Amino acid sequence: MKKVRIGIIGTGLIARAHANAIQTCFRDCEITALCDLIPEKMEQYAADFKLSAKMFTDYRDLIDSGLVDMVSVTTSNDFHKEITIYAAGKKLPVLCEKPLGLDAREVEEMAQACEENGILNLTGFTYRRIPAMIKIKEMIDQGVLGRIYHYKGRFYADRLANPDHPLEWRHLEEKAGSGVLGDLASHTLDMALYLLSSQCKTIKSVYANSEIFVPYRKDPVTGEQVKVTCDDSCNILAKFEDGTDVCLENSRYSPFEMEIHISGEKGSIKYNLSKHDEFELMLYDSPADYFKTFQTVAVKTPGTPIHPEANDRMARQYTYFIDCLNQQEAAHPTIRETVYIQQLLDAMKKSYQTEQLIKL
Ligand SMILES: NC(=O)c1ccc[n+]([C@@H]2O[C@H](COP(=O)([O-])OP(=O)(O)OC[C@H]3O[C@@H](n4cnc5c(N)ncnc54)[C@H](O)[C@@H]3O)[C@@H](O)[C@H]2O)c1
Repeated sequence: MKKVRIGIIGTGLIARAHANAIQTCFRDCEITALCDLIPEKMEQYAADFKLSAKMFTDYRDLIDSGLVDMVSVTTSNDFHKEITIYAAGKKLPVLCEKPLGLDAREVEEMAQACEENGILNLTGFTYRRIPAMIKIKEMIDQGVLGRIYHYKGRFYADRLANPDHPLEWRHLEEKAGSGVLGDLASHTLDMALYLLSSQCKTIKSVYANSEIFVPYRKDPVTGEQVKVTCDDSCNILAKFEDGTDVCLENSRYSPFEMEIHISGEKGSIKYNLSKHDEFELMLYDSPADYFKTFQTVAVKTPGTPIHPEANDRMARQYTYFIDCLNQQEAAHPTIRETVYIQQLLDAMKKSYQTEQLIKL
């Protein structure tokens, strides 16, 4: 197989995890081109990762350069749509970060462009690539937990919790679409649809509430106080068609935690990202059983694990995408599949804006 040449568009925080992943990935690939609106930031990135990549400040020049076989879109959310559509028009495979767009209409346009041009595309829901998650899905598919009653997802992060942290694009609806909803809840929602897909397909209703804890933040360029328009915290109750309960807790003001708890008629599984290569399993011996303790299940990681875990799951995402590229197979979740996720996120946003239950 020939080496896959990758163009990174947006050299910010998550692009660093992408670079680590590409450099430790289980397949032959390298970063050959970079693009960012801020040249000094891109130069620092190139220096930190010892890259001899060609640098661009306009993504169109990178895509037209002939230097890359695929692009990774790692800009703020407001540019995902136009970059993906431009790359698709030039027949370049795209790995785009989540949330894909500002709303479902944008994601639909992205999906159409990929389909019309027949290009490979993938949404960066990296948690699907964790070996323990794959094992949990396998068990649910095999019916080990029986009928599922509850799916609970908790995703907290506190990087932005300091009230003096300057304004970022993440605080502005026109650049981010939503706050913690698109940033963190999108992951645990995607995991609900992925892990439970053998029995739960569509969600019939959602209710969400949200809060903005720090209403103004200082613009680091102008020094002005700017109104924050994206949710800092968002709690969601949803129901699948079959009645399975979904509860998602999300906050930018709690210490980092990513946890999933699934309960079914035959038992229960708990997964916490801090122990990424194991999960807790409890199985009832009989339907009359109760108050049982959980046992730890260690998951054998295929290939050598890469540390820290965030780089491992990103490296597995690149391995998966490159395998799909070489075998000319679709990579999941496709942008088309992500339209549904974005429709659900839009409904959740509508729910917290109107303080209403939204029936779908
Ligand atoms: N998969 C995950 O777990 C995960 C984690 C964090 C962030 N993300 C996603 O990654 C994306 C980027 O987030 P981040 O935290 O790295 O943001 P960031 O602000 O740190 O970096 C974004 C970079 O994109 C550049 N940029 C913006 N518009 C551009 C354009 N038109 N052309 C070229 N460069 C442009 C900015 O200058 C900046 O350097 C977001 O969509 C975010 O939701 C995903």
